[in-house]
Amino acid sequence: MTNGSGSEHLRRIPFFEDLTPEDLDRIATIGQRRSFAPGETIVAKDTEGQALFVILSGRATVDAGGKVHQLDPGAFVGEMALLGRRRRSATVTAEDQVECLVIEAMYFKPFLIKNPSVAVAILEGVVERLREVQERVG
Ligand code: CMP
Repeated sequence: MTNGSGSEHLRRIPFFEDLTPEDLDRIATIGQRRSFAPGETIVAKDTEGQALFVILSGRATVDAGGKVHQLDPGAFVGEMALLGRRRRSATVTAEDQVECLVIEAMYFKPFLIKNPSVAVAILEGVVERLREVQERVG
C-alpha cells in the first residue's frame, strides 16, 4: 500500500493532533487518500460499512433523520457502521471536491485501542451528534 498521505499534513487535522510521530506515520501508512467529486456519494445508506473516512479538505453533507448536516474538514464519517456492526445509517455526499483519509475496518479498532486520544475524539463527535438528535426529537 502506498503512503501518499504525508503525516505532517495530517498533524493539522485536530483529530490527529495528539498522536505521537510514530502513530501519525502509521495512520499515514494504513490510511488511503481518496477524492470525491462534488455530488459524489462517500457512503451510501444501507450499504455495508468497510471503512472510516476523515475529511481532510472540502465539505460533505449527511442527511440524517430528516436534517441535513454539513461536515467540515476534520470531521469523520462512518464510525457508526464500524462500531455498531450495522449497515450505513445515512448517505454522506461530497458538496465540493472532498479529500478523505480512508481507514479500512480491519485497522480501525486496533488503531483506537492504540490511540486513546482518537477514541476520545470519536466519542466526543458521537455525543455531539446524539445531542443534536435528542434536542430535535425531545
Ligand atoms: P455510518 O452509519 O457508518 O454511515 C453514515 C454516517 O453518517 C454515520 O456512520 C455517521 O458518521 C454520519 N452521521 C449519522 N448521523 C449523523 C448526524 N446526526 N450528524 C452527523 N453525522 C451523522
